[in-house]
Amino acid sequence: MEGYGPETFGQLNAADYDRLHDPGTTENAVNLLAEIAANQRTLELAIGTGRVALPLAKRGCQIEGIEASPGMIAKLREKLGGGEIPIKLGDMSTARAEGSFGFIFLIFNTLFNLTRQEDQIRCFQNAASMLAPGGAFLIEAFVPDLGQFRNHTNLRTRHLDFSTLTLEAAVHDPVTQRIEYQYLRFTPEGTRMTPLPMRYAWPQEIDLMARLAGLIPESRWGGWDRAAFTADSRMHISLYRKPV
Ligand SMILES: C[S@@+](CC[C@H](N)C(=O)[O-])C[C@H]1O[C@@H](n2cnc3c(N)ncnc32)[C@H](O)[C@@H]1O
Repeated sequence: MEGYGPETFGQLNAADYDRLHDPGTTENAVNLLAEIAANQRTLELAIGTGRVALPLAKRGCQIEGIEASPGMIAKLREKLGGGEIPIKLGDMSTARAEGSFGFIFLIFNTLFNLTRQEDQIRCFQNAASMLAPGGAFLIEAFVPDLGQFRNHTNLRTRHLDFSTLTLEAAVHDPVTQRIEYQYLRFTPEGTRMTPLPMRYAWPQEIDLMARLAGLIPESRWGGWDRAAFTADSRMHISLYRKPV
């Protein structure tokens, strides 16, 4: 999508990210992440407004972040404890935090915000290079649902209440595995369009990216409650390990 760079998500969404982007899984996510992060220096790629990083810090985790958007970082900094988390401003496929980490994670489909396969591979390599031997890398991503597209397009209602309607319009390119979204939000104050380009990857392709970076697939769950990953799973949480 022309004109969309690593910092664009934050320019468009930082102001109301916390209100409009609640996946409803934060508590379970924090529980699982806190278990893996225990006693490990931990890094969140694309830390955003600290949705999970701040609760993790509150539980005593040593958490740091990399984030491309100054606007998202500013929102994190406004919150209680947000001033104490070290954050490196930059693109998660290339930016490096100092030292090495026992645990790195990248959640909420954000791997797919990198819209070229080579950048996704580079992101795995960058994460692997910051992991200590024996360290873990965790990804949360949706399982592509190509059945929703007809003639490579889709339009669906994402939210509807007395005064608000949010529609998701999408165009799919099966060659590049890119989906370009426009979210249309109608409120009494007016209409807003929020674009979002993504490049999806199948779980098995993600495993290959990990292997290219020298990481070994260890676990895959269908939810933050560690539900089994099955043919019906709509998302996966995948854990990779850097050999000792
Ligand atoms: C869906 S939000 C997820 C934020 C946070 N991890 C969470 O779970 O709430 C996506 C985040 O990725 C950031 N982002 C997008 N592309 C990025 C890139 N190339 N490098 C670093 N951060 C990026 C955005 O600015 C935004 O903060």
